[in-house]
Amino acid sequence: AKLHQLAKSQGKLYFGTATDNPELTDTAYDAILDDGMMFGQITPGNSMKWDATEPEQGVFSWTGADQIVNLAQQNGQILRGHNCVWYNQLPSWVSSGNFTAAQLTSIIQNHCSTLVGHYQGQIYSWDVVNEPFNDDGTWRQDVFYDTLGTSYVSIALKAARSADPNAKLYINEYNIEYAGPKATALLSLVQTLQSQSVPLDGIGFQCHFILGEVPTDLQTQLSTFAAQGVEVAITELDIRMTLPSTPALLQQQKTDYQNVIAACMGVEACVGMTIWDWTDKYSWVPSTFSGQGAACPWDENLVRKPAYDGIAIGLGN
Ligand code: G3I
Repeated sequence: AKLHQLAKSQGKLYFGTATDNPELTDTAYDAILDDGMMFGQITPGNSMKWDATEPEQGVFSWTGADQIVNLAQQNGQILRGHNCVWYNQLPSWVSSGNFTAAQLTSIIQNHCSTLVGHYQGQIYSWDVVNEPFNDDGTWRQDVFYDTLGTSYVSIALKAARSADPNAKLYINEYNIEYAGPKATALLSLVQTLQSQSVPLDGIGFQCHFILGEVPTDLQTQLSTFAAQGVEVAITELDIRMTLPSTPALLQQQKTDYQNVIAACMGVEACVGMTIWDWTDKYSWVPSTFSGQGAACPWDENLVRKPAYDGIAIGLGN
């Protein structure tokens, strides 16, 4: 059986993948991407980000994002929106920081409500705030925090809620998959937001892992956040290795993928799993981590790796 089909049959909402616009000209790639039984959910890897959607102040551009939304809809795939507010891939007019608190507040409100509003009714969940913390649990010192303190989070969440009341609103983060200061800081933010009645529906666990280093407390962490009354999801899964890959490394990767998927399957509030693209041909890893790669369940020739079977086993088959 195929991955989304398996996930659905086990009561999950979706198994999905990220994709990106340049890849869509690859017809062999499209043939697998477009299979709604394999991938029931799509995340645009880049084209909904601030630099792509509002490159100049007040000038919105939907070409790339619309292409992926239309593709997913044609394939019967649900969508995760990624993302509204993030320190990275910001156009320089935002990151320059030449704004007062009042000005930046309305800039965030306008960006989030226009972006989320453009796709109102078409997006299952939005990563409204992406990666707000440093690994030590302190707040990331970006233009948003530096200008507005922690209030930028609620400003963005409230704007998103007004723009699409039915979309699930997430904070998405990495290195919260194990107990530590960053997970603690995020958990406390969830509690604070809830105590202030700020809309928040979910926490995204990115899960960009290193071979052999999948946190053994991943399922516990998912449950800990779920116990706060939010849903959780695995949003950007990949498992990288030092190249070249060998049969032994690919077997370890199979086990690692299985364990990550099983962690989500073991938590009722974990609604779905997304891999951060499905083929090594288009993975972000080699260009960011020199000498590393082979992080996806399909190889560069679009052939399934042992990791694929690991996922299927994790999904209960
Ligand atoms: O758009 C420019 C293009 O004009 C230029 O010619 C080209 C030359 O390098 O760069 C293009 O921009 C690249 C962009 O992807 C679009 O392809 C950037 O260099 C490149 O850094 C950027 O990488 C993306 C990365 O986020 C940036 O932080 C990856 O594709 C994307 O997969 C990755 O995704 C992030 C999530 O959003 C958040 N979590 C971590 C995850 C992995 O880093």
